[in-house]
Amino acid sequence: MSKIKFKPTNNRVGCFIYADLKTVEKDHIDEIKNLLDRYGVLFFKNQNLSPKEYINFSSNFGKPAFYPMLKPHKDFKDIYVIERKKTDTGKSFGEGPHTDSSYLENPPRYTFLQAVEVPDEGKGNTLFYNQFLAYEALSKTMKEKIKNLKGIFSSQGKIAQTRELRMADHGTSGTKEIISQHKLVQMINGRKTIYCSPGHVIGIDNLQSEQEKLISFLSSHQIKKKFSFSFGWKKGDIALWSNRSMLHAATSFNGDRKMFRITIQ
Ligand SMILES: [Fe+2]
Repeated sequence: MSKIKFKPTNNRVGCFIYADLKTVEKDHIDEIKNLLDRYGVLFFKNQNLSPKEYINFSSNFGKPAFYPMLKPHKDFKDIYVIERKKTDTGKSFGEGPHTDSSYLENPPRYTFLQAVEVPDEGKGNTLFYNQFLAYEALSKTMKEKIKNLKGIFSSQGKIAQTRELRMADHGTSGTKEIISQHKLVQMINGRKTIYCSPGHVIGIDNLQSEQEKLISFLSSHQIKKKFSFSFGWKKGDIALWSNRSMLHAATSFNGDRKMFRITIQ
């Protein structure tokens, strides 16, 4: 049984996987899951999976999550379409560091994104920020301070603006605020991560006067260059990340782009 080929990014923020996802074997799926736990985000170049093959591959990681704020694919309800036209103005969907749907009580564990149509190279990259590395780099005092704290996550946090622009396009604006609390430190396979989505966190439970200062410290620490990697898309590429160990952000661009997203509960 051959081992899967992979190569971590230079700063170990994520990992490239060299496999054909159309024919990937069961043993390789297990290896991919281990690598996802270890690195937080995986990149699969040049796959060109059909929607059916894409759903099939994603089903190895769990059940698809429902997401009311994006338009589903017309034939495949588990796929949500993120589309931007050359003529669109304003921010891209998901611009600003965040982790997906963290305002829900049970946020989706993983997100898949597939590039269906992309603008020129160097446009529309997605930024990833590794939160294992961000946690490890905190001082002992800060680790102690946040270890039992809970963040207050809101669907109307900073990132909502980019979502509402998309929703306005589809005529589905106006859902009411959803709020949940989660521990700021989470554990994945024995390793700790910072779980604080700058796009959603509006407060910290039981920490009145200091909360703004702490949120602003964490938000700028979490996205330092040494924890980040900018992924440039080509048609057919797929990225898969863990929403508990990775922040991500869209970047601004002008051009036609279509992405298929699947989130896994
Ligand atoms: Fe996102």
